[in-house]
Amino acid sequence: MRLSLLLLLTVASALVVDPSAKYICSEEDSTDCYPQIFVPTEEWKTIKPGQEIPPGLHVRMNMETLQKEAKLMSEDERESEETPKEIGFNGGESEHFEGHKFENQVPAVYETSDVSTFNGAVNAVLRFGDRITSSSSGKLNEKDINDAAETLVDLSHDLEHGVRLTQDPKIFISILDIADSVGLDLKEKLLRIMGSSLRNNPEAIGNVLKLQNPQFINRLFDYLEDNTAEEVVKKRVIGIIHALSLNNSFKLEYLSLQRGRGIDRLVSVFPELEHSSQVRVMNILEDLGLVADLEKRQEESPQLEFSNFLQSSLHERKVVAEPQFQLYFNKLTQLHKQNKDLKPTPEFLQWLAQEANVRVEGHKDTRDISPENQDFDRQMLQARHEVFGNPNAMRKAYLDEL
Ligand SMILES: *[C@@H]1O[C@H](CO)[C@@H](O)[C@H](O)[C@H]1NC(C)=O
Repeated sequence: MRLSLLLLLTVASALVVDPSAKYICSEEDSTDCYPQIFVPTEEWKTIKPGQEIPPGLHVRMNMETLQKEAKLMSEDERESEETPKEIGFNGGESEHFEGHKFENQVPAVYETSDVSTFNGAVNAVLRFGDRITSSSSGKLNEKDINDAAETLVDLSHDLEHGVRLTQDPKIFISILDIADSVGLDLKEKLLRIMGSSLRNNPEAIGNVLKLQNPQFINRLFDYLEDNTAEEVVKKRVIGIIHALSLNNSFKLEYLSLQRGRGIDRLVSVFPELEHSSQVRVMNILEDLGLVADLEKRQEESPQLEFSNFLQSSLHERKVVAEPQFQLYFNKLTQLHKQNKDLKPTPEFLQWLAQEANVRVEGHKDTRDISPENQDFDRQMLQARHEVFGNPNAMRKAYLDEL
């Protein structure tokens, strides 16, 4: 045992250029040995326990691993370091560490301020999120968080970054917290980060579903029901929901008609959404297999497709629980009142005639006979003629049936 360790150490030392360099080995794992003096590169690297850090490096706390990391500073940064002002991002060229003398250690505050890097941007997001939730009076620098958001918008398309952004649930929570309290432009960017982190990224999706509590998902759906939320915000949120719908457990939990948890909320907001958002909702329903695929529905409008979806859900008895049934019927009515080009299918009309009669005659026994339910039954009968039928025939038929 001892011998093999010694051998390993010898091999490790043999690989090092400078033979006088000293090594430390980790106490937990004696095969994990590293130079006593931290060797910086242009990339962030973890500072191991006991390592000494040469002066003049970027040092920061990695919020994901909670370990300290350091990297080389570029020439520009070193120069501006002498005048302790804000340091701009430079194009990434770095000078070699050796051969330069540095007077001062880099102050800790500086470490996390480079929002043009992934980690710097994430740190900014976490810090802003903290400040918002702790409602401390400290002034938020919206420019900083805006730059951080831009960095993350660019990086979040990358699968690896998408995974990293979702590994710590605090990041997405902070993003939502910040989105709740900033202007439209930044809000849109923040929601876009979430959408593109998740798009076609099963691991990132799994992270969100495993690590976030259901409140997080509810907050997303809340945006859709918020009358003051801008359309582009809703569009981004629908994009996030679409991305999540790739996961089967999410699909079953939120987007199945039986559970109705998320899908009922989509149904509920659909008539008020703008065209492009309606198209996106239909894309979700298509991916769920609830409507025909795009090939077949190319010519159709999202409202026409959505109407057909609601009609068939009702007459094929896919929605039977009373509140869900009423929601789907009411939304169908609303949509047809809004858009006179929509027409009921013969199957739907036939079913509606029966269902409305059964209800008005009080044969829907299994249900509470509450005033609300009776109101609904009357409205259903009325809608049958006024919305889905021939308006001229309405008066006579209505009187006959009453
Ligand atoms: C879906 O999300 C769950 C967490 O809710 C996760 O355990 C599962 O692996 C994910 N499924 C896929 C196919 O990624």
